[in-house]
Amino acid sequence: MTTASIIDGKEVAAGLRARIAERVAALPFTPGLRVVRVGEDPASGVYVRNKDRAAKQAGLHSATLQLPEDTTEAALLAVVRQLNDDPAVDAILVQLPLPRHIRAETVLETIDPAKDVDGFHAVNAGRLATGQRGLVPCTPKGVMHLLAAAGTTIAGARAVVLGRSNIVGKPMAALLLAADATVTVVHSRTRDLASECRRAEILVAAVGRPEMVKGDWIAEGATVIDVGINRLPNGGLVGDVDFAGASQRAAAITPVPGGVGPMTIACLIENTVDAAVARRG
Ligand code: GUN
Repeated sequence: MTTASIIDGKEVAAGLRARIAERVAALPFTPGLRVVRVGEDPASGVYVRNKDRAAKQAGLHSATLQLPEDTTEAALLAVVRQLNDDPAVDAILVQLPLPRHIRAETVLETIDPAKDVDGFHAVNAGRLATGQRGLVPCTPKGVMHLLAAAGTTIAGARAVVLGRSNIVGKPMAALLLAADATVTVVHSRTRDLASECRRAEILVAAVGRPEMVKGDWIAEGATVIDVGINRLPNGGLVGDVDFAGASQRAAAITPVPGGVGPMTIACLIENTVDAAVARRG
């Protein structure tokens, strides 16, 4: 039985943000980020404020455009096009979820791929899938930083990604594959999830189901990255992994909160600077 070492996402993110701030200070221009929020989804409010604060701390010019819940899709597309055309704006993020009357896919496909710091545009997804340079989604990019910080060997390792979303699971699998892991993607329709997970030397859980991954799904010595942030009825926050159980078997594990979450925001800042340098550098 092992007791896992904790991968401290707050510390890794602080280090990354400090390096980015140094990069920004050395630039002859100020990278600009615009976050667009439609309506009042309560969880989004916290995310958007945290993104804005972190961007300003890193020396970026950051502003949030708050639009009313009843904004039409056409009006939102017009805002996005205006930001596409604004030379002071390097990075555009439209916060999800959007109100139901707006098609998120249409909005995401309208963002200039060069300013798409979420990496959600099909052009950026395609670049990632084909090994070309592009903007990479922030959460999976943050996971790669955490694996590096934990000293986990990726090349040749058996990696299992639990979840197949466009935001995390699919780009995560592409990044691990590009780093020479042997990658399996498992999901709600997978037969015998537990035994698939038990084969993982690296397990990335991104399903959004509280503590679904049990301690005995974890191989001895595995590295476990928990992307889930689930709010319990009692107000507590838990990941997709039973942390106490998994810690008895894993070699290294991320906590929730304080694991992947802080990395997502740090990577958004990194993508903003990368987009600005690519456009203006
Ligand atoms: N909502 C929750 N996470 C994200 C994210 O990474 N990007 C955007 N645009 N919206 C989100």
